[in-house]
Amino acid sequence: MAQTVTLIPGDGIGPDLTDSVKEVVGALDVDIEWEIAEAGETVMDGEGTPLPDSVLESIRRNKVALKGPLTTPVGTGFRSVNVALRKELDLYGNIRPSLSLPGIETPYKNIDLIIYRENTEDLYAGVEHTVGKHAAESIKIITREGTERICRMAFERSKEQGRKHITVVHKANIMKFTDGLFRDVFFEVAKDYENDFEEIDDRIVDNMCMQLVMKPNLYDVLVCPNLYGDILSDLCAGLTGGLGVAPGANIGEEIAVFEPVHGSAPKYAGQNRANPLATLLSAKNMLIHLGYAEEADRMQTGIEAALKSPETRTKDLGGSAGTKEFTQAIVSNL
Ligand code: NAI
Repeated sequence: MAQTVTLIPGDGIGPDLTDSVKEVVGALDVDIEWEIAEAGETVMDGEGTPLPDSVLESIRRNKVALKGPLTTPVGTGFRSVNVALRKELDLYGNIRPSLSLPGIETPYKNIDLIIYRENTEDLYAGVEHTVGKHAAESIKIITREGTERICRMAFERSKEQGRKHITVVHKANIMKFTDGLFRDVFFEVAKDYENDFEEIDDRIVDNMCMQLVMKPNLYDVLVCPNLYGDILSDLCAGLTGGLGVAPGANIGEEIAVFEPVHGSAPKYAGQNRANPLATLLSAKNMLIHLGYAEEADRMQTGIEAALKSPETRTKDLGGSAGTKEFTQAIVSNL
C-alpha cells in the first residue's frame, strides 16, 4: 500500500523546491503519495491563519511530512509559524546532519557530523517579559523529561547508525542548575549505551565553537539544548557549504517533519534560481525514515554526480544551472 506523506510546499521558493523533490522521488522506485497541505503566507488571507488545523490534521494522520519554508506573516500572533508547528506536534528532536559533498568548496573535507538539538525547551520556550521600563527577562527552562527524551533519541539513532563518539554540549560551569541538569541527565542516559560508543564526553559550548572551527573531524554526534543547538547547527552548516545545503528533521514520538534549514528567500520565488539541495537531502532522510534506504542511497549518488559539474550545479554553488536543470541532472544520474 502506498505511504501517504503530507507535502507542505510553503512560501517563496518553497514550491520550486518541493516540485524538484516530487520529480526526483517520482523517478525512484518508491510507493509514496503526496497529500498537499498549504500553509504560510499563501493561505493567510483565505484561512485567517498561516497554520490551518487541516494542515496539522493531515500531518497527524500521515505521521510523516515534507515541508518547504514558511514565512511568518507580520501581525499573526505567531512568533514563528515553524516554531508553532513543532510545538503543536511535540516534535522534540531537531536533527541536523552536516555532510561534505563533492563540488562544494569548503575549508575542510570529509565532515560527517550530526547535531541533536532539543526543540521545545530552553530560552525558546518563549517565557519572556519586560520588568518595568528598563529591563527584560527571559526564563530558561530545562526539564529532566525533556532532556532525557532528546538524549535517548540521540543515543538510540547514533547506535543504529554505528556512530562511535557522542558529545553533550553545555555551559554548566556557569548555568549550574539548567545546563547542569542537561549534562547530568545525558550522562545518566549514557550508562545504558557505554558498550556501544568508543567515546562519550562533554564540551563547554564556547570551547565547542572553537573546536568545530579548528578540528571538526574530531567530532561525530553532538547533543545540545535548544539555543546552543540552533547556533552550532548553523556553524556546522557553514562547514559544509552553508544553509542552502543543510537538511533538517523535526522528530517526535510518532511524527516526523522533514524540512530544509533555510527560509523562503522570496526574491528568488518562481525564478528557477533556488537551490533545492537542502530540501532534496531532507527528502532523502525522509526516505530512510520510511524504510527506503536503498533508494535514498541512489538519490545521494544522483545528487553527488550532479554536484560534480558546474554546468549542473546551481548559481549559489558557483554553477550555472537553474533549479530545473539541477533537478534534471539528478534524475538522469539516478
Ligand atoms: P532565507 O534563508 O530565506 O534567506 C537568506 C539568504 O539565503 C538570502 O540571500 C536567500 O536568497 C538565500 N537563500 C536561502 N535559501 C536559498 C536557496 N535554497 N537557494 C538559493 N538561495 C537561498 O532567510 P531570511 O531572508 O532570513 O528569511 C526569509 C523568510 O523565511 C522569513 O519570513 C523567515 O521567517 C522565513 N524562514 C523560514 C524558515 C523555515 O520555514 N524553517 C527558516 C528560516 C526563515
